[in-house]
Amino acid sequence: MEVITVANNKGGVGKTMQCYQLICHLANLGKKVLAIDLDSQGNLSTTLGVQIQRTLIPEWLIGDVPISDVLVPAEGTGDYIKNITMIPASRHLASLSKLLILSESEIRKNAGRKERLLRIRLAEAGDLFDYIVIDTPPMLGDELIMALVASNKILIPTQAQDYSIDGLEELMDTFEIIKETENPTLQFNIIPSMVNMRRSIERQRLGELSQSFNITPAIRNLVQMQESVSMQKPVCLMGNKTRGKMDYDALWESLNIN
Ligand SMILES: Nc1ncnc2c1ncn2[C@@H]1O[C@H](COP(=O)(O)OP(=O)(O)O)[C@@H](O)[C@H]1O
Ligand SMILES: [Mg+2]
Repeated sequence: MEVITVANNKGGVGKTMQCYQLICHLANLGKKVLAIDLDSQGNLSTTLGVQIQRTLIPEWLIGDVPISDVLVPAEGTGDYIKNITMIPASRHLASLSKLLILSESEIRKNAGRKERLLRIRLAEAGDLFDYIVIDTPPMLGDELIMALVASNKILIPTQAQDYSIDGLEELMDTFEIIKETENPTLQFNIIPSMVNMRRSIERQRLGELSQSFNITPAIRNLVQMQESVSMQKPVCLMGNKTRGKMDYDALWESLNIN
């Protein structure tokens, strides 16, 4: 079972897009996928056809309800969808940090540290799934830290703009701390996201980024990608010559997810 988190403490960089395309790609390969939405905005949940009144993720994490209470099948057309199970979010996820503080002594007894809760709960899920893919909110809060502790790999979509690249430092510092303390084998990949190669500033920033980090093939800024999400049609089901599919095929190949 491989756990992959898509993270960036900046919003609007394409996290939910990468999650959606990855989840559908894996499901289309016949893998059993658990999609976890840890963003209270619930965009991944909606894209996978799931909307719920109130998420029980906080209660599940602290051990008050079993995993069966938070699992929901994804909805949509196409055979691949049956391979996707979701743990959807709702705006109530915003109360997670408060609940963690209220349950502090209980958590210390059962998990040692709250950062470990998600890893412990996923281990309890056993081998029900081949892959777990986690979408995270745009901040360095409890959700993101727990996801990093629970994961084998983080994918970091990054836009080639100054403010987006500067924000990476904060995330990389957190990554290093988690690697040193809780998760020594954690790996990361930086994915240039929504790239417009016609803009010289973006080409220049991408060049700089590739000097500091090992970056993957880029995902271009394409209207087709927005349509993919709004029509709930993943790029893996589009024609081989479609640009979105070509970009993602190259990305999954570079990450050995194919
Ligand atoms: N490669 C792309 N080309 C065009 N639009 C994109 C691309 N990736 C994401 N988007 C759009 O950009 C917006 C932000 O993407 P999203 O995945 O929601 O970011 P995040 O989850 O990081 O906030 C969405 O409207 C999405 O449809
Ligand atoms: Mg998102």
